[in-house]
Amino acid sequence: MTGAEQYQRIRRAFKGTFGEPGLVVRGPGRVNLIGEHTDFNLGFVLPAAVDKAIWLALRPRTDDLCRFHAVDLNASCEVRTSERASSDLRWPNYLLGVYSEMAADGRFPRGVDCVFGGDVPIGSGMSSSAALECGFAFGLNELFQLGYDRLELAQLGQRAENRFVGVNCGIMDQFASVLGRDQRLIRLDCRDLSHAFIPFEDPGLVLVLCDTRVRRSLAAGGEYNARRAQCEAGVAHLQARHPEVQSLRDASLDLLETQRDEMDPSVFQRCAYIVKENQRVLDACDSLSRGDYEAFGQRMNESHAGLRDGYEVSCPELDVLAERAQALPGVLGSRMMGAGFGGCTINLVREAELERFEAEMAKAYRQDLKREPLIHVCRLTGGTEIVEAGALLV
Ligand code: GLA
Repeated sequence: MTGAEQYQRIRRAFKGTFGEPGLVVRGPGRVNLIGEHTDFNLGFVLPAAVDKAIWLALRPRTDDLCRFHAVDLNASCEVRTSERASSDLRWPNYLLGVYSEMAADGRFPRGVDCVFGGDVPIGSGMSSSAALECGFAFGLNELFQLGYDRLELAQLGQRAENRFVGVNCGIMDQFASVLGRDQRLIRLDCRDLSHAFIPFEDPGLVLVLCDTRVRRSLAAGGEYNARRAQCEAGVAHLQARHPEVQSLRDASLDLLETQRDEMDPSVFQRCAYIVKENQRVLDACDSLSRGDYEAFGQRMNESHAGLRDGYEVSCPELDVLAERAQALPGVLGSRMMGAGFGGCTINLVREAELERFEAEMAKAYRQDLKREPLIHVCRLTGGTEIVEAGALLV
């Protein structure tokens, strides 16, 4: 289904339930070429918004009631904007978290009717949660003229996820979803949020996602939070001896080595992965600026190995897909993407070899994973946007 068809599908669902929508928003999912788990360590990432999205149809209400309908889950829920208890259904928390954070900012938008759905698979490592929370915040901002700018909306989405959903994620997903640009990668420094848009429009190359079909919800993300806590323990250790180390961004591998014997081995291992991954992002960006995609792809492969052996967030299905892809002609790089434990690999593939890539990977899915392939070629798109504004704006 194309984006236009997704839009019509969600619009129709809204119309069938609530009447004409006031607004339709597209909240894109994201890919990340390299720089995994570096965002909350105040390091570097290289994400982009993509042509898979959550679409939200919204209409403002005159009271504080919200009526939400998740089309793809075929689930509905009614809540008050003032609700601060998290819902057992889980998905409404991404929306309620937005209200909660707006209230914390002293902004109190009224209720809405909202229908949403799309083609960012939940738990696939493509940030369906950021697409949803930021798309919703973007829609409320527009409907009620709340005056947030894009960066503030991305940060608000992150706070909603940290404080309401309970996942201590970094800023990468929300930033990429809201601030993405057509055919551009975002080289983001997560310490000061300075960023550069890097053209990615080489017609000879494509980005392909291979979805393991293993779904792991970030909301049940104990492992994610546990890794983050280990990184923080590492920073605390280093900082006690070297006060200039405010985050793993400030630590070199040499400095870390001097502390190896005193540190908990798994804390050391997680920290070493982060320090190396930060350097890989910088090296990969240098390669990109020289047009050296082969070197870029090598860094992607190394990133996978680090996530598998050092940070330990891969899973057998991701490892199989990455290994099989790395061995194919025309594949410059392949690695797991996102939080890990399932979801997709991202592959940098020569366009001329795409057909062979798809055929060979389909074999790998069937032979090694005993499941049907699920492969997407992605296009990089702009960030969150209003695709339809009706007459109901207040
Ligand atoms: C999830 C989080 C991000 C980031 C990635 C791993 O997508 O939401 O903040 O930490 O995992 O790079």
